[in-house]
Amino acid sequence: IDPTLDMVEAINRLRREKNAVILAHYYQEGEIQDLADFVGDSLDLSRKAAATSADMIVFCGVRFMGEVAKILSPGKVVVIPDAEAGCSLEESCRADAFKAFRDKNPDHLAVTYINCSAEVKALSDVIVTSSNAELIVNSLPKDKPILFAPDRHLGAWVARRTGRDLTLWPGSCIIHEQFSEKELIKLKVRHPNAKVAAHPECPDAILTHADHVGSTRGILDYVLNHPGSEFIIATEPHIIHQMQKAAPDKTFIPAPGADGGCSCADCPFMAKNTLEKIYLAMMNAAPAITIPEELRVQALKPLERMLELSA
Ligand code: 13P
Repeated sequence: IDPTLDMVEAINRLRREKNAVILAHYYQEGEIQDLADFVGDSLDLSRKAAATSADMIVFCGVRFMGEVAKILSPGKVVVIPDAEAGCSLEESCRADAFKAFRDKNPDHLAVTYINCSAEVKALSDVIVTSSNAELIVNSLPKDKPILFAPDRHLGAWVARRTGRDLTLWPGSCIIHEQFSEKELIKLKVRHPNAKVAAHPECPDAILTHADHVGSTRGILDYVLNHPGSEFIIATEPHIIHQMQKAAPDKTFIPAPGADGGCSCADCPFMAKNTLEKIYLAMMNAAPAITIPEELRVQALKPLERMLELSA
């Protein structure tokens, strides 16, 4: 890369030349969020990827999100800035182990969080995100046992919300498991008026202190619409960028980890993306997501079911 290149200008030029749309998750660095055509949570980004008329989708998030875009929009070139941007939840649910459970428990419906591989999606009955999991589980037949995979904390929260007895896959997000209940209580004592907004990937010990539990977009809507002026945010802290932009007079405090600090909750996978990698991905149309057609068609079914059920 020419070191004198203005990255934002260069990306904007490629965006026009390639008829590209740049999608970014709220967990991306602020400068990437500011560059994106659309910033959203997993559900909104899936909808955007399914509906876009662009020729190229540049997905600034982690790999499974790019895969979802490709499954929903197979005719588009889908690039991700870094092919190594994985996800601890995806890692915690290997397709062979998931298939073994399904083979052993054929009576179970498999409700699977979107944070998983295309292979696991293809073995699932319906996909959910944190913003529609409760709604979708509520819509399922009451007489069927349900496997909820791979996030056991989201699953436990959905089980509590719906009153359904879910079998939970033993997976979790390394980021949301970093928050410390003890340090959160201390922070609340120092900020008695602060409302706590938490993502349901947090363990119950954190959720129990939350005034609001929801997806990233749900948390954003909550803090913007709530009359309060101080909020403790228990999710990946880069979402605070959007909060500060939209409500500069409010105070947003990242929830603490065990050392009382907050940087432990920075997602190392999301952080792999940079402006330089976005530029190169657009320029080279690589790394591009490719999915064998048979697998794509299998993975599409439970994703379409999700989009129908949460329309
Ligand atoms: P949402 O985008 O549904 O809030 O979930 C966050 C997440 O886990 C992204 O990987």
